[in-house]
Amino acid sequence: MTSGRQALETKVFPVCAEGISREHHYCNYITTMAKKLWEKNIDVNPEIERFTVGRDKKLDLMLARYDVLGSLAHCKMLESIGLLTKEERELVRQGLWGIYSAVMTGTFIIEDGVEDVHSQVELMLTRKLGDIGKKIHSGRSRNDQVLVDLKLFTRHELQDICEAVIALFDALQQQSEKHKDVLMPGYTHLQVAMPSSFGLWFGAYAESLADDMLFLQAAYRMCNRNPLGSAAGYGSSFPLNRTMTTELLGFDSMNYNVVYAQMGRGKSERNVAFALASVAGTLSKMAFDACMFNSQNFGFVKLPAECTTGSSIMPHKKNPDVFEIMRAKCNRLQALPMDIAMIMNNLPSGYFRDLQIIKELFLPAFADIKECLAMATYIIERIEVNKEILNDSRYDAMFSVEEVNRLATEGMPFRDAYKKVGLDIEAGTFTPDKNVHHTHEGSIGNLCNEEIKKLMYGIYNAMDFDKARNAEKALLKA
Ligand code: ARG
Repeated sequence: MTSGRQALETKVFPVCAEGISREHHYCNYITTMAKKLWEKNIDVNPEIERFTVGRDKKLDLMLARYDVLGSLAHCKMLESIGLLTKEERELVRQGLWGIYSAVMTGTFIIEDGVEDVHSQVELMLTRKLGDIGKKIHSGRSRNDQVLVDLKLFTRHELQDICEAVIALFDALQQQSEKHKDVLMPGYTHLQVAMPSSFGLWFGAYAESLADDMLFLQAAYRMCNRNPLGSAAGYGSSFPLNRTMTTELLGFDSMNYNVVYAQMGRGKSERNVAFALASVAGTLSKMAFDACMFNSQNFGFVKLPAECTTGSSIMPHKKNPDVFEIMRAKCNRLQALPMDIAMIMNNLPSGYFRDLQIIKELFLPAFADIKECLAMATYIIERIEVNKEILNDSRYDAMFSVEEVNRLATEGMPFRDAYKKVGLDIEAGTFTPDKNVHHTHEGSIGNLCNEEIKKLMYGIYNAMDFDKARNAEKALLKA
């Protein structure tokens, strides 16, 4: 006959990973189950716990720094409304500072049996400060805590991303200016179409980033509002001073309505994901162009040899894998808003644990896009362009419209000129004049890079990153 304990062991730990014995799991379960913030007199089935905690223990480490910042602001506010004494608050501040240092030096962990970062921070404070640590949760819930953590994390990441976008933008504009007189073929239907230039090609992606920056700005503004104080989603009977925590955390304003503050979970991530997807869309198209133009059949650009990869069988290969990986990552990022929408779309208002799963998709996306932006900038700064492409006669026909326009300027009706040039090309008597004269705004001869720069920096400079950064620094001191 199996004992109750044996039955539990085999049932809830049917497979023991990494050689850890069932015994060990069981002991852990017994010794740590008291660590649940909410646990009263019911033992939670460990399999249920494992399933519901999911990947939180790992992912929440990314939020730890912000959980501490949120707690610092919350505790300062609790003191102001008399729920912590000055001395208690100072002890909590020192305790939180210690946790912050552990996070920043990489020694902070979420222990076995502890559900998430919020529980771990409270547990550490309670171990250190006893009853004082148990007071800090007054007037808040993990629901608004995770909202604040996500907002602060996202705000920080968006600052990095905007800066990375600016770096790529500058690199593209520099290349555009440098090669503004170098012509290259333009295509429609992937058929040789009309003269283009490297000035246009690089400059186009810079302007695309300026539009992406608009999405980033909207995402930043939307996420820079304080949900703290919404508690479980319906506020609190404590007279919380939400204006104070809004200022302390350097938010632009609060999410006023507590129900809406909670509804922002998922919505905020989805909208930020749209901004990331917009940048990713620019990068994936640029990566495709770069791969194609780098191929021998085009030969328009050349990646520096150190940025290419080899083949195990073909000794001559210098492959543009870097752009291929970038393209794949960025194409996947473009699915992110939809992936998030599929999780949160059909939920009514109020908190649901479904929202936790969004973190699995959302949190790692920032590292992906930042890595792609850094790679793109590195290569764009070093990419070589072929100044001799147009000596190849296969591109001669793309000057046909230039000739039609020349004849039309001399008085021949456009349609007649079009027909004449068409027939000359058919007869093999067309000789292209490769001196192009495009003068209007945004064309080969008038790139408007200055105007595009003004547009980009206008959007970028309208975001006040210093306010948020200074508030975070001040919180750690005071
Ligand atoms: N891990 C949870 C999440 O990401 C934290 C909030 C838990 N709240 C709750 N009511 N169970 O959503």
